[in-house]
Amino acid sequence: MGLPEPPPLGAAALPAGTFDGTVVLVTGGGTGLGRAIATEFARLGAHLVVASRKPEHLAAAQEALAPLGGPVLTVPCDIRDADQVAAAFDRAEAELGLPSVLVNNAAANFPSPAEDLSPNAWRTVVDITLNGTFLCARELGRRHLAAGSPASIVNVGASYAWTGGPGFAHSAAAKAGVKNLVETLAVEWGPYGIQVNGLVPGLVPHQDMTADIRENLDRNEATARSQPALRIGHPREIGWAATFLASPYGRFISGHTLVVDGANWQRRALTNPPVVTVRDQLGRGPFEP
Ligand code: HXC
Ligand code: NAP
Repeated sequence: MGLPEPPPLGAAALPAGTFDGTVVLVTGGGTGLGRAIATEFARLGAHLVVASRKPEHLAAAQEALAPLGGPVLTVPCDIRDADQVAAAFDRAEAELGLPSVLVNNAAANFPSPAEDLSPNAWRTVVDITLNGTFLCARELGRRHLAAGSPASIVNVGASYAWTGGPGFAHSAAAKAGVKNLVETLAVEWGPYGIQVNGLVPGLVPHQDMTADIRENLDRNEATARSQPALRIGHPREIGWAATFLASPYGRFISGHTLVVDGANWQRRALTNPPVVTVRDQLGRGPFEP
């Protein structure tokens, strides 16, 4: 049986107009889960700012979000670059107003045995996932501290922040940093009215997954059956969780990371199956220095 399916796409978990006129900035909001999150905010009346690098992703955000009613501003931005982050906030402020919700959704990832990662491959994933998240949070924090106004941050994470992530050493280490940052910033900025939470999606496949993440999934023929929920997650379930955390109904929740994964990360077997190395799981030959 497994966990029941959620209500259909388009159903709302919060009252209509919960985010009327609220400016919400979603990094990486043109694809996958970022777009699903932005969609749920837009349905509840938010004015959306989507920031990412690729014009085709920004165009996809505009196409998906504009029909939902509110204004949508798309801003080219590489979140690794503090100046580009500041420029994105400048544009948002000038055209829609200072965002009072920031969803740090953008991240980078690809499967690789740790020993195969070049210094630049490691640096790239950590730079986007952890440093980019910090730079965006810092920009929002500084502007709200200066203005004396409240705000809410949701950092999208991954459950291997707690467990380690064999095959994803760079991303797992970066996501551990992202989770830790939630806990630090929530305490530092709570006195200024800034709430900071984390949101961890479980396995939520979507049409925009990068080829190597998709191939990684396709290695397991029984993807849904390997989850305690006996199903995968749906992007809208991540969108609903994000809107709740940033809504007035979640105001006393801060410094928390909410895992939306049907308990998959707690799964353990009574007896573990034989160990298969990451190289073998990825079909790589022996390590060649
Ligand atoms: C090994 C790789 C690699 C790969 C890139 N590199 N792809 N190494 N395997 N598949 C190496 C390159 O060789 C290079 O090192 C360094 O990484 C930087 O590569 P660039 O292509 O120059 O980087 P850049 O253009 O900045 O692109 C970043 C990227 C790319 C991460 C490589 O894939 C990207 O833009 N991804 C964004 C979308 C994404 O990753 N989404 C996944 C989120 S899903 P050298 O040494 O050659 O210079 C997610 C799920 C979590 O996080 C849970 C999953 C179970
Ligand atoms: P995705 O579709 O690949 O989205 C990643 C987004 O990040 C893209 O829109 C990309 O846009 C943006 N991005 C990447 N590098 C950037 C940079 N340097 N500057 C600005 N934007 C950048 O992946 P997803 O599956 O939706 O993942 C979204 C979030 O959920 C990530 O934090 C991921 O770690 C997390 N997550 C996903 C799953 C899952 O099952 N899908 C599971 C656990 C955690 P551009 O290419 O246009 O820059």
